[in-house]
Amino acid sequence: MKGVILAGGTGSRLYPLTKVTNKHLLPVYDKPMIYYPLKTLIDAGIKDILIVSGKEHAGGFLKLLGSGEEFNVRLTYEIQDKAGGIAQALSLAEKFADKEKIIVVLGDNIIEDSIKNYAEQFEKDDSAFIFLKEVDKPERFGVADLKEKKVVSIEEKPKKPKSNFAVTGIYMYSSEVFQIIKTLKPSGRNELEITDVNNAFIKKGKLKANFLKGYWSDAGTFESLFHAAQLVKNKNYNSL
Ligand code: G1P
Repeated sequence: MKGVILAGGTGSRLYPLTKVTNKHLLPVYDKPMIYYPLKTLIDAGIKDILIVSGKEHAGGFLKLLGSGEEFNVRLTYEIQDKAGGIAQALSLAEKFADKEKIIVVLGDNIIEDSIKNYAEQFEKDDSAFIFLKEVDKPERFGVADLKEKKVVSIEEKPKKPKSNFAVTGIYMYSSEVFQIIKTLKPSGRNELEITDVNNAFIKKGKLKANFLKGYWSDAGTFESLFHAAQLVKNKNYNSL
């Protein structure tokens, strides 16, 4: 199994912090943001990891992380020429994945739980895995419509959320994901949405939702970046 960290995008919600650097290189308390998703994958036993980033600041990732030797993993880099959404960024991982299963983590997602057990289950399973977390303001995320703990659909940033369960930025997919992405059409915000990928797996009857127990935060807005830093500090998060 291989890992993919999606670290592209313009970081527009964090402007001007992102004027001269990539969002995922910004600090979350005492570490660069990308260290956290990297740790999530390393703790799950993943040794081969692709980082997808935009061309503007790709050099920053190389300088920070290099070959991955320091962390005992092999890092590969891929460039997303234009920000076209999470699913579009993921499509760039097809060659790297080389038909193997992949664990995808969004570069601004910070979680407390280890996903090692889930990764082991996923390896034997035919379904894609997503991870849900109950939140106060679900409108900001992909939101699961749940019927008896089963996800029947997911809505991206709904005005009237059908539950308080956000879809976090950790996804486990078989190589089928790349065929699905090829069928997607751009959304209203002109992006290929990861929510559409997950809805396609639901339609095939191949999506399993897991519930995160520990804390989760993204860090793409001033509020969530600040919150993520507080979580890391207060919980004594043991980073890389
Ligand atoms: C993205 C996804 C959304 C998911 C979120 C998790 O949102 O589109 O479904 O809930 O990541 O961090 P974005 O960060 O692009 O607003």
